[in-house]
Amino acid sequence: ASFGATKTRSLSSRPSRRIRTSSIRPWRARYVFEASFLRASTVADFAERIIAWQKVYGRHDLPWQRTRDPYCIWLSEIMLQQTQVATVIPYYERFVRRFADVRALASAPIASVMACWAGLGYYSRARNLHRCAQQIAASHGGEFPRSVECLAQLPGVGRSTAAAITALAFGERAAILDGNVKRVLARHFGIEGYPGSPKVEREFWQCAERLLPKDEIEPYTQGLMDLGATLCKRARPVCAACPVNDTCVARREQAIDKLPTSRPIKPRPVKSAVVLAIQEASGAILLELRPPAGIWGGLLSLPE
Ligand code: ADE
Repeated sequence: ASFGATKTRSLSSRPSRRIRTSSIRPWRARYVFEASFLRASTVADFAERIIAWQKVYGRHDLPWQRTRDPYCIWLSEIMLQQTQVATVIPYYERFVRRFADVRALASAPIASVMACWAGLGYYSRARNLHRCAQQIAASHGGEFPRSVECLAQLPGVGRSTAAAITALAFGERAAILDGNVKRVLARHFGIEGYPGSPKVEREFWQCAERLLPKDEIEPYTQGLMDLGATLCKRARPVCAACPVNDTCVARREQAIDKLPTSRPIKPRPVKSAVVLAIQEASGAILLELRPPAGIWGGLLSLPE
């Protein structure tokens, strides 16, 4: 289905900024995003529905949800950065038993921290965790800062992780934007473009900020995470159960599998090489054993 200019405009309280009258694309999500996103009612409604859904259908029993201790929430958010919940749980539980608070972690030898992290992968997270604990112990009197700006200065804590910590531990209003949330927003608001590109990422942040509810930031933040992890999955999303399915652009446009936009495929580099074909009078051809790495590694080929 293609969105005509009239239809796009009718979604908005004021005309969208860019309206193309012809398109080679079968759908025009970016423009729909600009238009529908301006509708205050959609924005307010979105958060309300996420919150109501989270309270009934969201996750409530994860080990780090039983506390508001910023140390535990920080630890869980770092572990969850590149790892699934089910894998994180036993590591998280062992870690908080072994290092009960930020001072215990800061004063522990790095080798014992690495040993506790062993098997979880992405080991720079553990090194940053230890450095971060030492900074908090040395420069913040052992207390986690509350603001996103301060938290985001700490080793291993990016803007989205900082927002998750401040929202879940302190109830402060801050927007998260991890991979799951980008998928939810891309689909619901029809945000086109590779989310890793700076320009598109700015658009996602703008969207995430504008959606923030005035209150109930914890169930909203958790709800976005839960929706992305349990319903709005990358493959085979469960749209029928989604609390915002009736306003989802991707669903309406049958573009769920097109959003979020994949990383652009880099053009393959063209490489040239000169090889020698040397044949003896007997017919034997000279071959060489190639180095183990690189193209045709470890194989015999004509000398290059
Ligand atoms: N992924 C990132 N943060 C999370 C959290 N607090 N709960 C569940 N999954 C998450």
